[in-house]
Amino acid sequence: MSLDIVILAAGQGTRMRSSLPKVLHPVAGNSMLGHVIHSARQLKPTGIHVVIGHGAELVRERLAADDLNFVLQDKQLGTGHAVAQALPFLTAENVLVLYGDVPLIEVETLQRLLQQVGPEQLGLLTVNLADPTGYGRIVRDGAGKVSAIVEHKDANDEQRAITEGNTGILALPTARLSDWMSRLSNNNAQGEYYLTDVIAMAVNDGLVVATEHAHDPMEVQGANDRKQLSELERHYQLREGRRLMALGVTLRDPARFDVRGEVTVGRDVLIDINVILEGRVVIEDDVVIGPNCVIKDSTLRKGVVVKANSHIDGAVLGEGSDAGPFARLRPGSVLDARAHVGNFVELKNTHLGEEAKCGHLTYLGDAEVGPRTNIGAGTITCNYDGANKWKTVLGADVFIGSNNSLVAPVDILDGATTAAGSTINQHVAAEQLAVGRARQRNIDGWKRPVKQPKP
Ligand code: UD1
Ligand code: CA
Repeated sequence: MSLDIVILAAGQGTRMRSSLPKVLHPVAGNSMLGHVIHSARQLKPTGIHVVIGHGAELVRERLAADDLNFVLQDKQLGTGHAVAQALPFLTAENVLVLYGDVPLIEVETLQRLLQQVGPEQLGLLTVNLADPTGYGRIVRDGAGKVSAIVEHKDANDEQRAITEGNTGILALPTARLSDWMSRLSNNNAQGEYYLTDVIAMAVNDGLVVATEHAHDPMEVQGANDRKQLSELERHYQLREGRRLMALGVTLRDPARFDVRGEVTVGRDVLIDINVILEGRVVIEDDVVIGPNCVIKDSTLRKGVVVKANSHIDGAVLGEGSDAGPFARLRPGSVLDARAHVGNFVELKNTHLGEEAKCGHLTYLGDAEVGPRTNIGAGTITCNYDGANKWKTVLGADVFIGSNNSLVAPVDILDGATTAAGSTINQHVAAEQLAVGRARQRNIDGWKRPVKQPKP
């Protein structure tokens, strides 16, 4: 069965009170429309057609991708009119209609829905609601078969009592669509071309409308204002938390855990409170992440420990290595197995070899550090001369004394030692001791200044 997907995303979203088009508002770090596109792609359709209108240029710019066909709906004349704009581009047997502001729809639910659609049958996703106000109502005949959808504003009291609501998501055979679209009228309470009117047309044409249910009403919940947006956000986070727990992660508190990207996890991972995982994060077995950490686009290999309040971005932490508390690993930081980064240490584009140690108050930028090398407290690389960045290369088993300034480009070879307080700007050969500091002078009979009396 071939499939085209049409995503409706032209609406304004006045209640967001925002200059950003509604569908670009983020849930879990990705726009609502981005989530819908992500789910759509997993169905491997022939085409994905995104109907845009309000903020069209910005939406197109933010989400541009080779596999997306953006279709402009100049005036928002209704959901039926919106689908009609995409009609010329539809080539597959079936069409699935999704909403750009309903981001939590699950692929599994859509797959169930798609099993219903065929040449003589539509698949309609419905939801039972305690309060269906505002929703189109699913009208069924005496035998329980769907006969029509009536919009809330057009419904009579009896119809408004129906609690089965239209999610708006439906799948239909493309061959019928142009006929149904041409028969839509806007003679209704809102003066719009309703997509929902095709249901009654299909039934009159002898087709069957089969329904599927969204088990979780939040899956089909749209966001019209920022309160609803926050509800979707929390729901997404809880769902992601449950998914990770099912895979063997202990979350100290799923309500204080946020994922804004794609996370893969191993088993026996422990994540403390207020951790944010962003972008692509890979966490292997037995990793421990302390409270208040932000981890972005990074890989934490087996047994890594990240202690409280650390910020890890674009880094690879090797097996059994550790960082923090208060570590900052910037892009290009690579820790080999069992390397150690302690508190108030910043690394950027720096490779620490196996068991290298960098325990306290240090900045290493553009540095290559050999295995077992120890960096004393307060050491910094002077990697930037105001115009260019230069490399610092430390061999294996080097010992850098405390409070060193390593003026790059400089290299210090295997087994060398530098004295505490040194400024090192010259090559140090293997096994040498480099002392790069002023000699201490002790002055006898020194008198401290005394406080002058006030005039
Ligand atoms: C629609 C359904 C209703 C359903 C409800 C679920 C119709 C006529 N009604 O109502 O049965 O219960 O969704 O939330 O379909 N859009 C466009 N172009 C337009 C109009 C809308 O792209 O001209 C997009 C909107 O951006 C939005 C979606 O279509 O993503 C739904 O539009 P909206 O106005 O929210 O429809 P409802 O009146 O809520
Ligand atoms: Ca709506």
